[in-house]
Amino acid sequence: MNDLLIQPFQLAWATGALSHGPLIRKTTLLGDLSAIFTDGDATQLFPDRPAYAVDMFDTPGGEGELYVGVTHLYPGKVGNEYFMTRGHFHQRREQGEVYFGLQGEGQLLMQNQQGQAWTEPVFAGSVHIIPGYTAHRLINTGSQTLSALAVWPSTAGHDYTSLPHGFALRVIEEAGKVRIMAVKHG
Ligand code: F6R
Ligand code: ZN
Repeated sequence: MNDLLIQPFQLAWATGALSHGPLIRKTTLLGDLSAIFTDGDATQLFPDRPAYAVDMFDTPGGEGELYVGVTHLYPGKVGNEYFMTRGHFHQRREQGEVYFGLQGEGQLLMQNQQGQAWTEPVFAGSVHIIPGYTAHRLINTGSQTLSALAVWPSTAGHDYTSLPHGFALRVIEEAGKVRIMAVKHG
């Protein structure tokens, strides 16, 4: 076999488009996210509107393997709160992840198991090392799609239930500006 004819998987860095591999796309609708927004009821005004899509290469999982995926988080707000991903801990808590900002602007919100939360700005070229034992969520504070590449252990799994009070920080628009605010009970 001629190795030169084998095309590797490809990522268009400017847009986050993945190609040359088997892909899986999962779209999350606003209507699925009523529990995460302060004004959750407002998500039911446009329940079928896509909030974000995750494309990933359909590669084999297993101990020691990695998954590669791109999140496209669309611009928008629910009340004064910017569109965001659901956010999760990994089921295998010790397993971290790396995010790379590709386009758009936003924040990566992280929170450890002691409830301490912090954010990092996400933009084209930003690199984010998410430690183990740390929940994470993307927030789109811009007017374009926020796209970020993620690489994580295929065995990490996702735990969406272990932040019963949500994250301790919220990212809202106030007087036309991005504001990161602490919330009681997360
Ligand atoms: C994988 C990972 C990302 C997210 C994606 C959607 O571990 O962190 O691929 O899965 O940004 O967010 P969630 O999974 O919180 O809906
Ligand atoms: Zn993750």
